[in-house]
Amino acid sequence: MYVQSKKVAPWSVKDYVKVILCFFVNYVILGVLCALATFINKGMRWEAFSGYFLSEQGKNNFAYLMIALFLLMVVIFLFYYNENRDFIKKPKNVVMMFLIVFVSLIISYCVGMWGSVYARPIALCALLTLMLVNRSSAIFMNFAMCMITFLMDIYTGADYFGEYQNAEFSSLVIGFSAGLIGIYLISGIKSRVKVLVMGLVISVPIILMTFVLEGMDFNRLYLPVLTGISAGMLSVALQMVLLPAFEFVFNVLTDYRLSEITDHKYKVMKKLIELAPGTFNHCLIVSNLAETCATAIGESSQVARAAAYYHDIGKIRNPGFFTENQQGKDYHEDLTPELSAQIIMSHTTEGAKILKRYRLPQILVDVAQEHQGTMHIRYFYAEAVKMTDGEVDIKKFSYPGPKPQSKIAAIIMIADASEAKVRTLKDRSHVNVDAAVKEIIEERMDADQFSDCDLTIRDLSIIRSSLVNALAGVYHDRVEYPKLKIGKSEKK
Ligand SMILES: [Fe+2]
Ligand SMILES: [Fe+2]
Repeated sequence: MYVQSKKVAPWSVKDYVKVILCFFVNYVILGVLCALATFINKGMRWEAFSGYFLSEQGKNNFAYLMIALFLLMVVIFLFYYNENRDFIKKPKNVVMMFLIVFVSLIISYCVGMWGSVYARPIALCALLTLMLVNRSSAIFMNFAMCMITFLMDIYTGADYFGEYQNAEFSSLVIGFSAGLIGIYLISGIKSRVKVLVMGLVISVPIILMTFVLEGMDFNRLYLPVLTGISAGMLSVALQMVLLPAFEFVFNVLTDYRLSEITDHKYKVMKKLIELAPGTFNHCLIVSNLAETCATAIGESSQVARAAAYYHDIGKIRNPGFFTENQQGKDYHEDLTPELSAQIIMSHTTEGAKILKRYRLPQILVDVAQEHQGTMHIRYFYAEAVKMTDGEVDIKKFSYPGPKPQSKIAAIIMIADASEAKVRTLKDRSHVNVDAAVKEIIEERMDADQFSDCDLTIRDLSIIRSSLVNALAGVYHDRVEYPKLKIGKSEKK
């Protein structure tokens, strides 16, 4: 999942209350799941279940389990509070994080109960967290998940270990190692086929560890092989099945989702191509520029590309009013400068609305809304000044903002304006392109457009040189080759 590079904002008392309450609710749910597991482990008979809870041992076991889980919750909170504070600030993210744990736990329990303990998809939680949050969270949640499974195995009266001697302890070791191996193997892989292959690779250490830890004989080698393959393959297969559901419900931007939405056949992209082909071409060029700039300053090039593709989607409302889509007819001729400016400016807010309606990731919505910041439309403002004797309210000719809140939004703002400016230049020599990009950046710095994002002067200088090089590549003038007449004798 892409996390915007922002300064960590301080938390208010309300934030603390909200997050701690959210953790507590999830702690209660975990307790209920443990009670449910105990109920199933007691043969789903009420008398056995209540008898277990009334017995001294049962009470002690459950109390120990709840205390241990509480401590684990505190540790999870401390980890995220120190490592990824912005992430848990949103209750939606906390819910997603624990839903991953609950789903993995329920599936693991079912496979252990009605299948084999060693066939449990032990890397599932780690892999889902890797795809939906990030690698460090995946490593930590892998550890937390193994601990929760271990505590449930020990303290819910489980009786599903069968012939295995040390299954609850071995599961802890195998789960921790296989999850970690899975994280490092699958990190950065974007092809689903390769992920499936990695499922088989994860199986190998599981098979070896099951064999060694359970001290099995070679005559029954098929058992660890079968359970190991099941554990590895189930982990990756379930991850692939569940990921789109998590992506959709929590609107998370993963690598898979990014490649899906940047496909030209994606429904919203198809609308842009059909309704505003000129804008689409402009977005394609801006996407190349933004990708180059993002790479140069260490931001995600894929996110920059996707954000650039959709930054002007709002123009599909009135495509003919934007120069890149005009074919001869100027629709602004019959309008007042105020009305023309209103139509042009509305493309940011309209774009954000469209992207929200189609549930596209939040960063794309933000970029659509922020890519013009609070800049003025000087052309129509000048027209209005020409037509009136009195004062003209500049606010009527200013974009509603907000100013770019992330580095990606700032990159799109600069790339977008630079592309439009360089397109109109007659002489696109290196010197002229450089002067144009410099002017665009300075104009926006003077208008205080970069004060809400973490863009540094160094970033701006890198963006400038990257843009000049990239624009020179896009709009290079064709070299005129001298015409040569090749005679028959010369052809040999
Ligand atoms: Fe725009
Ligand atoms: Fe644009």
